[in-house]
Amino acid sequence: MSRPELIAPPEIYYGDTESKKYTNNTRIQQVQADMTYRALELLNLPPAQPAFLLDIGCGSGLSGEILDDEGHIWAGVDIAPSMLEVALEREVEGDLFLQDIGQGFGFRPGSFDGAISISVLQWLLNAETSHPTSSPPHRLTRFFTTLFSALRNPSRAVLQFYPSSDDQIQLITSLAQKAGFGGGLVVDYPNSNKAKKVFLVLMVGSGGQVPQGLQGGAEGVENEEKVKFEKRRERAKARASMKKKSIKGKDWVLKKKELYRQRGKEDVPRDSKYTARKRKIRF
Ligand SMILES: C[S@@+](CC[C@H](N)C(=O)[O-])C[C@H]1O[C@@H](n2cnc3c(N)ncnc32)[C@H](O)[C@@H]1O
Repeated sequence: MSRPELIAPPEIYYGDTESKKYTNNTRIQQVQADMTYRALELLNLPPAQPAFLLDIGCGSGLSGEILDDEGHIWAGVDIAPSMLEVALEREVEGDLFLQDIGQGFGFRPGSFDGAISISVLQWLLNAETSHPTSSPPHRLTRFFTTLFSALRNPSRAVLQFYPSSDDQIQLITSLAQKAGFGGGLVVDYPNSNKAKKVFLVLMVGSGGQVPQGLQGGAEGVENEEKVKFEKRRERAKARASMKKKSIKGKDWVLKKKELYRQRGKEDVPRDSKYTARKRKIRF
């Protein structure tokens, strides 16, 4: 079966029907959640502190939901209006931006404590044009240079993607490097066709060593992953129910509010009670 990025441009491929089908597919939910948890692990954020994260190609918010559960604040960008509509219907907490990442970001320098991107980068390799300024290298260059600037120093961006050749990996890593990033590739389960996952771990400033990929054979990996996912899901459910019962610690709530204020939010409540607000897609 052909990969989606070879079939149609993303905003066409992820129309109303496909966006709903994608989001409601339990297998997809499981795989994307697993990769999001792994990306968070590779981000190596300071423990027990809410961070302000960018979800690149956020789609319908499958990853965003996990960022919420993990106590982070996030903004998401995506090119497909239907995906963002589904995210809105699901009432995700992040701020959503309709945007083509190949045109670069316009965020203030140093805005984000980190960024994740799950199953998106391969789309930039398949721009359907030979026009020089919209060729994949140009789009990737704009993407990496503006991402570099949007991240604070030091920090990391972790981008899981599906390369189809070593040349693609070479192109992506060299352009990321030219944009100023350190870091490199982390390949989990390299010997399993099914479980193999490629993460580009990009570092701004002194982000430390590139971590080792997870190892394991083809057998057992999937079951192991399922068990891990179920455990995480249980923990996330427990956290979500704690959130509902408002039993998060006072310090944690204060820290999160401080983070909101630092990011320029104007409607942060002054008392200790957090109140959600309606989200809008920004154009
Ligand atoms: C496989 S989906 C993944 C969505 C989400 N990250 C997840 O894990 O569920 C790929 C997403 O990348 C988005 N995408 C592809 N090319 C893009 C671009 N140039 N700019 C912004 N988003 C893009 C698509 O619209 C789609 O929502």
